[in-house]
Amino acid sequence: MNLRPILVAPSILSADFANLARDIKRVEDAGADWIHVDVMDGHFVPNLTIGAPVVKSLRKQTKLVLDCHLMVTDADRYLADFAAAGANNVIVHAEACVHLQRTLSQIRQLGMKAGVALNPATTEECLTYVLDDLDQVLVMSVNPGFGGQKFIPAVIPKIAAIRKMLDQAGRKEVHIGVDGGMDASTAKLVINAGANVIIAGNSIYGSQDQDLSHAVSVLRSGSNEKIVSQARG
Ligand code: DX5
Ligand code: ZN
Repeated sequence: MNLRPILVAPSILSADFANLARDIKRVEDAGADWIHVDVMDGHFVPNLTIGAPVVKSLRKQTKLVLDCHLMVTDADRYLADFAAAGANNVIVHAEACVHLQRTLSQIRQLGMKAGVALNPATTEECLTYVLDDLDQVLVMSVNPGFGGQKFIPAVIPKIAAIRKMLDQAGRKEVHIGVDGGMDASTAKLVINAGANVIIAGNSIYGSQDQDLSHAVSVLRSGSNEKIVSQARG
């Protein structure tokens, strides 16, 4: 059983971009732990979204951790901009980083937490020699680029394998996030496999309820309530 605090990170990709401050307040009020910011360059993924200037504006609206997922070809070019904008976490894609260890070191040198994202078809082996350089692994459970896609169950054994690698390396504190197709039932599956951060766009912002508390809390369903109530950061 996974006894880590379960963190819920709503993805603002599914929010109303014309009302981001309002939509961040809605998930804050609903008990969200982090805000997940999907940055896409139209090159690494076939879609364009937002970048550091928007993070700078969001920083003025919330004290929650801004978890920035860079789906871009050349992340190194933008790291200093994200640090200056007030990003807390920067996640880069293993598939896009030729010098992954250097990129992770630079993220930390800039005062941010470093994460590595793995596409559904990417194996966990590329993490073997950077386990001491990362603070988070983000397992993509859809092919990145769009919200509202279907969860790919083949990633579940990969989550378990990564948790084992981290435990064996003495890096139990490293977060494992799962991103894509998260709802109450898929969240439970990935939490049971060893994940502790649930990233969700559609199942939170697509809720019919004005109050998003229920949409956020059901994502923690596989977790221990008492521990969850202490979860932050
Ligand atoms: C996909 C993004 C995800 C996406 C998740 O490329 O990285 O963060 O917003 O959206 P849902 O929860 O709708 O699958
Ligand atoms: Zn994401």
